[in-house]
Amino acid sequence: MSHNLLTGKKGIIFGALDEKSIAWKTALQCHAQGAQIVLTNAPVALRMGEINKLAEAIHAPVIGADVTNMEDLKKLFAESKRHFDGGIDFVLHSIGMSLNVRKGKHYTEMNYEWNQKTLDISSMSLHRVLKTAWDMDALNEWGSVVALTYIAAQRVFPDYNEMADAKALLESVARSFGYHYGLKKKVRVNTVSQSPTRTTAGSGVKGFDAFIDYAEKMSPLGNATAEDCANYCAFLFSDLSKYITMQNLFHDGGFSFTGVSTAIVESMEASGQSIVNKQ
Ligand SMILES: NC(=O)c1ccc[n+]([C@@H]2O[C@H](COP(=O)([O-])OP(=O)(O)OC[C@H]3O[C@@H](n4cnc5c(N)ncnc54)[C@H](O)[C@@H]3O)[C@@H](O)[C@H]2O)c1
Repeated sequence: MSHNLLTGKKGIIFGALDEKSIAWKTALQCHAQGAQIVLTNAPVALRMGEINKLAEAIHAPVIGADVTNMEDLKKLFAESKRHFDGGIDFVLHSIGMSLNVRKGKHYTEMNYEWNQKTLDISSMSLHRVLKTAWDMDALNEWGSVVALTYIAAQRVFPDYNEMADAKALLESVARSFGYHYGLKKKVRVNTVSQSPTRTTAGSGVKGFDAFIDYAEKMSPLGNATAEDCANYCAFLFSDLSKYITMQNLFHDGGFSFTGVSTAIVESMEASGQSIVNKQ
């Protein structure tokens, strides 16, 4: 449904890999709300070719950029400004990659070189994107930048591994750069902490099916879908959210503030796992 929330706005969307991607759904929703979009992803992801379907559907150019490469980012912002014939109103950072998870390394046996790469791709890349925009004065006043994160930044989810640290750093960069960009140009920077969602990145986490099922049972509203996350991002890109900045915003159906739920208690009782059985 369109409310024309983003009519006249122009945005860059990072991270649409396939139609399950949160970035893919966000691009569709922003387009439906009247925005013009530039799509970008790493050259290796572009070679999959899926993104071209999305590009066609929303009439968006695709400009490749490895988010850890400053030259790629400069080129992306320069070409986007040329395409839009002006500044950029919003950016979605929907990027995550863990080398230690991918290569099956336990948190306690971390390979630090891989960890550096993980933090660069998943966290400091937000700094790189913001710095590139800052240096080129590419974002318009009241612009909005959103990066996607997960509650493992605040609570321990053992199989989330080094990505927990990566998300904590990402959220910190959003706050710190959000302060400076707010002062300089009223640009806002927020992170959205999303429920577990079945995507390529999400499914990389060990035991993901149990993980997603547990979160569903622990959330009074149930897990937030990728489509709902897209709706929330569109709202954050719109003028209806002008004074929200430097926040980590939970979009998780109430999971973050639930201690235990009736559904979890009942399922533990049913499987005979209650504490009483230990005696
Ligand atoms: N799926 C979940 O359960 C979940 C929950 C909370 C937060 N998130 C976050 O949402 C974001 C999007 O992930 P998703 O679940 O849609 O999965 P996804 O796999 O569809 O998206 C991840 C994207 O990161 C891109 N990427 C990786 N390395 C890159 C690089 N060097 N340069 C540019 N792009 C690069 C990939 O090409 C891909 O498009 C990530 O930050 C993820 O951590 C996901």
